[in-house]
Amino acid sequence: MRDFLVRVENKAYPVIVCSSLFSSHEWLKQIQFPSRKGVIITNTTVGPLYAEKVKKLFAEEKFDLSVVVVPDGEEYKELATAAEIYHELLRVECDRTSFLIALGGGVITDITGFVASTYMRGIPYFQFPTSLLAQVDSSIGGKTGVNLSEGKNLVGTFYQPEGVFIGLDFLETLPEREYVEGWSEIAKAAFLRGGDFLALLSPNVHSILARDPVILEELVFRSVHFKKGIVEEDEKEKGIRGILNYGHTLGHALEKTSGYGVLRHGEAISVGMMGAILIAEKMGYVSGDTVEMQKEILEKLGLPVTVPYAVDREQLVQTLLKDKKTVARSIRLVLLKDFGDPIYGVPVEFETVFAILPALIEEGPS
Ligand code: NAD
Ligand code: GLY
Repeated sequence: MRDFLVRVENKAYPVIVCSSLFSSHEWLKQIQFPSRKGVIITNTTVGPLYAEKVKKLFAEEKFDLSVVVVPDGEEYKELATAAEIYHELLRVECDRTSFLIALGGGVITDITGFVASTYMRGIPYFQFPTSLLAQVDSSIGGKTGVNLSEGKNLVGTFYQPEGVFIGLDFLETLPEREYVEGWSEIAKAAFLRGGDFLALLSPNVHSILARDPVILEELVFRSVHFKKGIVEEDEKEKGIRGILNYGHTLGHALEKTSGYGVLRHGEAISVGMMGAILIAEKMGYVSGDTVEMQKEILEKLGLPVTVPYAVDREQLVQTLLKDKKTVARSIRLVLLKDFGDPIYGVPVEFETVFAILPALIEEGPS
């Protein structure tokens, strides 16, 4: 087991990375809970696999947990689902002394955080991320949110959890496509960090794809530890935290324009990172060799570097215009000057984006 504290304004919370959360209660005994009453928020896929196991673990330490189950899918990361959860919380008599447990992938960690930050003006919550993507990224740092029909994560809060508990054995039931998409956020962290972190990816692809527990723990730990450093420096994304959006502006727009679920989040971010590095090449920041190296790593990991079908460009542009980071029709992107040397908030004209689109997506309407 490896652990550390994330220190943000007014609080510090533990992050634990271990092979299994179920093999010992020791970690649980050491966590400060606000009360003995909590509610697990999960979905129709993860709930049947793990909700009873988590309930039992907590029951053995004299906690009383209820379970709220929502439908599975990015399309349910919306205000209507948050409202359903609020009503369920009232029904199970969740009050301001209770806590929430997010048990699921990034959709569940995001929406649970959002509900926790707003229900009765804010109650504590803990993250039990079960997808690789949620373990390495969405469960840490306190960004919560839901999508609107106009775009991703357009409503949300910064609201830090009380603890993040990463059990790598959750990944045993994660389907292959969802496992592979998680690697896009690990690759993102490695591209941003560079050096020995990045050097670990290529030579270990075989072990990574075979879900080797040793390399998995090492790379999950490095990713969350990298994110900890950034979040501690800039909790509310006033500056440096912006680098964590590498590939996300274009990726979110592609994800939304394709229709949620068609292109999975991590896949969209992979294509988005390719878009960003092609733009960086066009603007003279990186060489063709750097572009090729990023492409090779993503491809080796089994991630897409192009969208394999037509995307409606007009819709894509409309979505980009509504992105949180778009100012006066110029989008702000994270670009690399090199691996380990990102710059953020770089104004990029739409013409430059259009110029690289043919290398990323098919022509014509979807
Ligand atoms: P997801 O939550 O949809 O999970 C992917 C799929 O895997 C789902 O069907 C889920 O039910 C299933 N699943 C999860 N764990 C499982 C397990 N152990 N066994 C079997 N099935 C399992 O998607 P995701 O890729 O985990 O997360 C994507 C979301 O995360 C997006 O909404 C994205 O915006 C968000 N995100 C947020 C942040 C942040 O900082 N808040 C960062 C990155 C991504
Ligand atoms: N995933 C981006 C961030 O947490 O800031």
